[in-house]
Parts: sequence; C-alpha cells; structure tokens
Amino acid sequence: MKIGIIGAGNIGGNLTRRLTALGHDVSVANSRGPETLKELAEETGATPVRAAEAARGAEIVVVTVPLKAVPDLPSGLFDGAAEGVAVIDTGNYYPRRRDGRIAGIEDEGLTESRWTERAIGHPVIKAFNGTYAQDILDRHRPAGDPDRMALPVAGDDEAAKRKVRALIDELGFDTVDAGGIDDSWRQQPDTPVYGLRGGTEAVTRALAEASPERKPEFRG
Ligand SMILES: NC(=O)c1ccc[n+]([C@@H]2O[C@H](COP(=O)([O-])OP(=O)(O)OC[C@H]3O[C@@H](n4cnc5c(N)ncnc54)[C@H](OP(=O)(O)O)[C@@H]3O)[C@@H](O)[C@H]2O)c1
Repeated sequence: MKIGIIGAGNIGGNLTRRLTALGHDVSVANSRGPETLKELAEETGATPVRAAEAARGAEIVVVTVPLKAVPDLPSGLFDGAAEGVAVIDTGNYYPRRRDGRIAGIEDEGLTESRWTERAIGHPVIKAFNGTYAQDILDRHRPAGDPDRMALPVAGDDEAAKRKVRALIDELGFDTVDAGGIDDSWRQQPDTPVYGLRGGTEAVTRALAEASPERKPEFRG
C-alpha cells in the first residue's frame, strides 16, 4: 500500500521502519527537507519527500508532528491523495512542555484531534498517540499471542477507521474502537489508557474509566 508519513521523529521514524519492513511503499517527510532524511531512506528503502508531496497517491497518511507544528503544514496537503485516504493523527497536546496554549482546545473545548482536523482540513483517525515509539519496533506480536497489546482507535469515518485498524493489525497490535473524535479525550494524555501496555480487555476498561477533566498540568 502507498503510505505517506509526515514527521520522521520517534513515531514517524519507527512507523517508517516497520511499514517498509512489511513491504509498504512509504514516502516520508520532515520539516527540513528530504536531503536530511538520507539515512532513514537508506536504512528502510522509504522515499524521502517534502511534506507537500507526502500524501501523493497515498491510501493512508500519518501526521506525526508536534501539535504546535500542525498549523505550519502546507495547505492542500491531501489534494493528490488516493480517494478515501485515511489520515492517522498521532498527536498529543503538551501545552506546558512543548506546544504552548492552543485556544481551540482550551477555550472551545475541542478534543486534540478535532482541533487537528480543523487545522489540516481533513478528518482524522486518532491512533498511536498513547503508544511508546519504541513499542512499535519491539512489542508487535502475531494475532492471537497472549501478550499482544491493543491500541485504542477513534474516528468518525468508519471506512477510514476500518482501514487503519487493519493496518495496525498488520503491524502486530490489536485495536479497540474508541468511538468518534468527540470521544477521543478518553485516550488523550493523562488518561488511564495513555501509555497502557495491555490487551483488548484492559484497554476497553481503561477507556471506560477515563474522566474528561483536564488537570492543571495539562492546561496551557
Ligand atoms: N515519542 C513518542 O513516544 C510518542 C508516542 C505517541 C505519540 N506521540 C506524539 O506524536 C507526535 C510526534 O511525536 P514524536 O515524538 O515522533 O516527535 P519528534 O520526535 O519530535 O519528531 C517530530 C517530527 O515532526 C517533524 N516536523 C515538525 N514540524 C514539521 C512541519 N512543519 N512539516 C513537516 N514535518 C515537521 C520534525 O521534522 P524536523 O526534525 O525536520 O523538524 C520531526 O521529524 C507528537 O504529537 C507526540 O506527542 C509521541
């Protein structure tokens, strides 16, 4: 499958490694340009591109940049993507440590992913946001393995969500349907499921136990 990855850091780099290992045709971009991605390209066989080109022809695009960088992404990012492209958002809001205060989240009460959707002009599927980047490389397991981890996946577009869940299964993880994007606060930072290394039952329970309250340290 043709997959675009925007962001080549901890998450984007490791998704590039695993998805190329599985035989996918991966284009990867960062903020500094393709010439700075030579090493990753040589290691994985992925094609380094500019962010504006990463979605070209892609059936799945992963947006995995710091939240504060989302508004800097080029406009029309998904114009050349395959019809029905599924856009995965791995983002988290860390107002004090990294992102600064984002009014849409703080004042309008948008979930992080709803805010991202508005900024990029495309619906998203929220996935991997609570997954340690290293676990993408180290903790994948075949289907049915008792130690297989499950990841929560939220999104409003059911067809796109199915596509993303199938890809995550291929990557070696179970998934739990975490509802729509307005429900995705249940998997944001500081919730029980965030960073949880558990199976389907534990993830389902953790999602149910989440509180919508955002503690002061997670407010801008
Ligand atoms: N680290 C984790 O374990 C983890 C786990 C789950 C979710 N997340 C979340 O996933 C997101 C990415 O995290 P990360 O740790 O992978 O970040 P990271 O290591 O800091 O990497 C960020 C990447 O985004 C790129 N980038 C920044 N601005 C860009 C722009 N305008 N256009 C194109 N690319 C741009 C950077 O490119 P340059 O280097 O060229 O600037 C870099 O490749 C964050 O929201 C984070 O909270 C992280």
